[in-house]
Amino acid sequence: MLLKALTVSAVLAAAAFTTFNTVADETQKERDERMAWWREARLGMFVHWGLYSQAAGVWDGKKYWGGCEWIQNSAGVPTAEYEAALRPLFKPKEGFAEEWAALAKEMGAKYVVFTSKHHEGFALHDSAVSDYDAMDFCGRDLAREIINAVRQQDLKVGIYHSMIDWHHPDYVAFDNTLPHPLKHERNKDKPLPVEGHDFNRYLDYLSAQVGELTTHYGPLDILWWDFSHPTAEGHHWRANALLNQVRASNPLIIQNNRLFNSGNVSGDNLSIFNPAKGDFTTPEQHIPETGMPGVDWEVCMTLNGTWGYSKHDLNWKSSETVIRNTIDIVSKGGNYLLNVGPCPDGSIPEATYVRFRDLGAWMKKYGSAIYGTTANPLKAVEWGRITAKDNRLYLMVFNWPENDTITVPIKPDSAVDCWMMADTKLKALQTEVTDAGLNIKMNSEFQNPYASVVVLQTTGKVVE
Ligand code: GLC
Repeated sequence: MLLKALTVSAVLAAAAFTTFNTVADETQKERDERMAWWREARLGMFVHWGLYSQAAGVWDGKKYWGGCEWIQNSAGVPTAEYEAALRPLFKPKEGFAEEWAALAKEMGAKYVVFTSKHHEGFALHDSAVSDYDAMDFCGRDLAREIINAVRQQDLKVGIYHSMIDWHHPDYVAFDNTLPHPLKHERNKDKPLPVEGHDFNRYLDYLSAQVGELTTHYGPLDILWWDFSHPTAEGHHWRANALLNQVRASNPLIIQNNRLFNSGNVSGDNLSIFNPAKGDFTTPEQHIPETGMPGVDWEVCMTLNGTWGYSKHDLNWKSSETVIRNTIDIVSKGGNYLLNVGPCPDGSIPEATYVRFRDLGAWMKKYGSAIYGTTANPLKAVEWGRITAKDNRLYLMVFNWPENDTITVPIKPDSAVDCWMMADTKLKALQTEVTDAGLNIKMNSEFQNPYASVVVLQTTGKVVE
């Protein structure tokens, strides 16, 4: 009896603690505090890895291009056939998660988001409500391995979780226009198996798995939902209940807004952004031209043309592109979530290593021009990008001018001090105020092939 009473009061105490706000009734101050680490982090590593990685972009001898995590749908493969082909290949190597986490640390990422379940429906965590999970396939709770390894590196950890689920028999009962492998023309002679299936049962399952993920591994830092569409969004997923369920057990978690349809993610119209629908918005594969003022946003991007591993897509972005994208995004006020699609056994493709290490080496030297900085407060400059923090501007030079001189569009009303960030002696650079702004003569000894950095510090206000 006593035990029961204790349990009840413990539950009530927990409830009192966790119901302090739902997503909608949080104050701006509470929200700012919750978002603070994310706004400072600026760079994250995205990992797409699941059963789809085993196919490596090839089905029945045919090569697929684009998002290879979609291969089940692209090739129109019913789940039984998909599982039969890929299950025997699913042999994650020991220690793969430590490799991911070490790479994230080395590239300068402050957080890692991995696919706990992609559209195929296969779960990396040990799920009591499913036998389509890593525990059943290889006897390991891979989500736990990943989460532990990331935390070990002192990084924040988040899960990408798909609302779409091609394996669940009740999912197919949902009448929507989203693609599904069974709607593929390869299966056009077979009716969709909707008879006797109930989408509500799927929604219970979705909520149960998310419940497992958000209560069995300690508090998670990010929940990255994916995805919605005008005919499959918000109330269709019981979005508000999910957002609040997650916040009740993880009060400080940050969730994206993909439980709702927020316009075309590959367009720039994501500013129809409502914090009640999620904490940040997610331009995909492109950088909004002028940023998204007043909004928390994160660009997610692949390193080649696919999120999940492909053995034939070798169209890698260069280290220069990746480094300059990081700078470009941060100078516009956003975060960069850069993807890796590990190989079937979980190891990192060599081409990814090379680029992420180059990025990491640059970040190690110049990271203070990125972490904790905000968007360029001045007008755009043709020689590079600018970020700001306190009374400093970080001038990142992509195009080094022949006369070593850049013009910053400001009229300082007080003393300015500037130096090459790579110069450990902090030797003052020569400046001159002209009609066009402040000219700075840089020292070419500290030129960097990806982006050279000048620090400009003022004792007063920086005015355009
Ligand atoms: C898309 C794709 C998906 C990928 C995601 C990442 O919504 O469906 O494959 O995981 O974007 O942003």
